[in-house]
Amino acid sequence: MDKFKAYQLTETPDKKIRAEFVERSLDELDPGEVVVRVANSDINYKDALAATGKGRILRRASCIGGIDFSGTVGSSADPRFAKDDLGVAHDGGYAEYARVPAEWLTKLPKGMSLWEAMAFGTAGFTAGIGIVRMEQNGLKPQSGPVIVDGATGGVGSIAIAALAKLGYHVVALTGKESESDWLKKLGAKEVKLRSSIDFSKTRPLEKPTWAGAVDNLGGEVLAWMASTMKVNGVIASIGLAASPSLNTTVLPFILRGVSLLGINSTECGRRCSRRCAVRFRSASCRRRSMTSSRGR
Ligand SMILES: NC(=O)c1ccc[n+]([C@@H]2O[C@H](COP(=O)([O-])OP(=O)(O)OC[C@H]3O[C@@H](n4cnc5c(N)ncnc54)[C@H](OP(=O)(O)O)[C@@H]3O)[C@@H](O)[C@H]2O)c1
Repeated sequence: MDKFKAYQLTETPDKKIRAEFVERSLDELDPGEVVVRVANSDINYKDALAATGKGRILRRASCIGGIDFSGTVGSSADPRFAKDDLGVAHDGGYAEYARVPAEWLTKLPKGMSLWEAMAFGTAGFTAGIGIVRMEQNGLKPQSGPVIVDGATGGVGSIAIAALAKLGYHVVALTGKESESDWLKKLGAKEVKLRSSIDFSKTRPLEKPTWAGAVDNLGGEVLAWMASTMKVNGVIASIGLAASPSLNTTVLPFILRGVSLLGINSTECGRRCSRRCAVRFRSASCRRRSMTSSRGR
């Protein structure tokens, strides 16, 4: 096969990252059972960390970037991914072709286009998993309000749109007052500013307020969420954009039966993908029109 274009990240001797387009052939790609002709990719939080070198997460000297991709199967040694089946998955998506182990791939859910899959990307997939897990643990629209932090981010904004469409009373917690109107258009009933809360004064049990919480930040915001949950409230712990620490007490978990659900999009994978697709699609039209109106 001819050479094709790929976007490669390389660590330089002075520990910086060089990101550039290069020519590659299939033989040069990492091994895997399935070759995918890539249709779309996206820019994931981790892609930005890898390409700027800020997160120091590149785990080898050189690698084709791209955490997510969608595409059509070019060739497959695994019967689950016969030619012309569609896939949505993991690594090396910034290239015209990707070759990956079959277990890294998820079949494209019915009714979702390759473009839509990457518009949602890992952020949307993870928001969907978070909602599915919270609902599996008893969350219903009538349980009470659901708070979402990191609201203007990829995970947060899709979680807001999907939860609102599913009938939840969504409260967006953000650091950006200027985005309040956009968050309301996405479906948030209320917008709360982080600056309006003194997190340093959080007590082990505060007024029970939230039936559900989607946390993208960790640290003191997650600790505050835990202490403000209602009885049997559920928290989806997704991200650590602010901090990997959690300084709290066991009181919300024991006295109020609060559940802290760890969400890992790579581990949950195929098991959740069909239910997540339903959650994504419920939000898709709304987010797309919002997205284009913001010029993102
Ligand atoms: N568990 C998983 O499988 C999984 C999958 C995908 C992503 N993640 C993680 O989830 C988190 C969110 O991902 P994303 O794609 O939504 O990221 P993103 O698009 O960059 O959004 C992050 C949002 O968090 C807020 N924020 C950022 N830095 C902050 C800080 N230092 N202190 C307080 N707030 C801050 C901002 O929103 P506001 O100003 O509106 O608050 C920002 O828009 C990341 O930590 C990511 O690594 C986990």
